[in-house]
Amino acid sequence: MNKTQITEFAELIKKGKLVAFPTETVYGLGADAWSASAVRKVFKTKGRPADNPLIVHVSDEKMVNEFAQDIPEAAQKLMDQLWPGPLTLIFKKKPDVLDAITSGLDTVAVRMPDHKLALDFIEETGPLVAPSANRSGHPSPTRPEHVWADFGKDFPVLDGGPCTIGLESTVVDVSIDPLKIYRPGFISRRQIARITGHKIGVQAMAIEQKSGAAKSPGQKYSHYTPSAAVNWLTSSQVKDTEQTLYLFHSNSAPADDLQGKVINYKEDYNQLARELYDRFRQADIEGYIQVIIEPFDKVSFKDNEILDALHNRITKAIGEE
Ligand code: TXA
Ligand code: MG
Repeated sequence: MNKTQITEFAELIKKGKLVAFPTETVYGLGADAWSASAVRKVFKTKGRPADNPLIVHVSDEKMVNEFAQDIPEAAQKLMDQLWPGPLTLIFKKKPDVLDAITSGLDTVAVRMPDHKLALDFIEETGPLVAPSANRSGHPSPTRPEHVWADFGKDFPVLDGGPCTIGLESTVVDVSIDPLKIYRPGFISRRQIARITGHKIGVQAMAIEQKSGAAKSPGQKYSHYTPSAAVNWLTSSQVKDTEQTLYLFHSNSAPADDLQGKVINYKEDYNQLARELYDRFRQADIEGYIQVIIEPFDKVSFKDNEILDALHNRITKAIGEE
């Protein structure tokens, strides 16, 4: 990617247009965070419900002060140690932050992505709102081709190749005490607790979701879903058909007597996370009718913190939550 393309795409942003850009998690659909019409365009383009707020992406800490009313001590520690990185912080918002961004909430989500192209781009454009660059309901895009598949091949995408993490950022509310995680991600609850010295409830996410009181509205919508049915291997919904894509991850997983295509990640959970959404999209392209995933062993969660995030995204794709 050359400097000219960054400058050219930054011009589009300044004209109120949308540009997709890579981050370490997934591709974002960027728009000028200070343009109400550009922000509205994001919702329209994605087909996103208006009550699902957006994350503001920044390239330096000064930009955070344009949006956050104040920066609590715990938030400062997280920013110092984990930014740039796959961590979104929810702050009390400044009064002039656009309502369209926050869906009328009194808080605003901010993150600094750990991706050179993204940071160089935002430095030129100023702060950008950026939801994942997929049509609402589709899996998040982890490659430029995914964005073009959803929005057409002429859509402007800063091409950074495949994303290194592949699952969306951890979302943590630092505007309340105790802190709460609304969406698990690569940055784990344990890391956040260690850095801040705060206790963070394991159940925060599940309680949030089941109560239906959507503190983080995105959590109530179905996400990440291919057209193929997604199920755990143990589900009674599993059909015996060749049109099955199996995703295994344990070393001891069965493989011999299955119809369909079998992929085994051999305990490389980061690789599974990196490829999950691409596998979902591939399943549709290649005409599989189901994607069957080996359940995670409960004891593995402690040692592999990415499993919380993987489990969360897979149950959403299945439609269990
Ligand atoms: O990794 C990521 O976070 C990617 C990349 C592009 O940065 N972005 C992303 O954005 O996943 P999106 O729009 O797909 O998800 C944003 C999530 C939603 O679940 C939304 O409800 C939540 O953040 N959120 C945004 N603002 C919030 C707020 N003020 N309070 C609570 N949750 C908020
Ligand atoms: Mg999304």
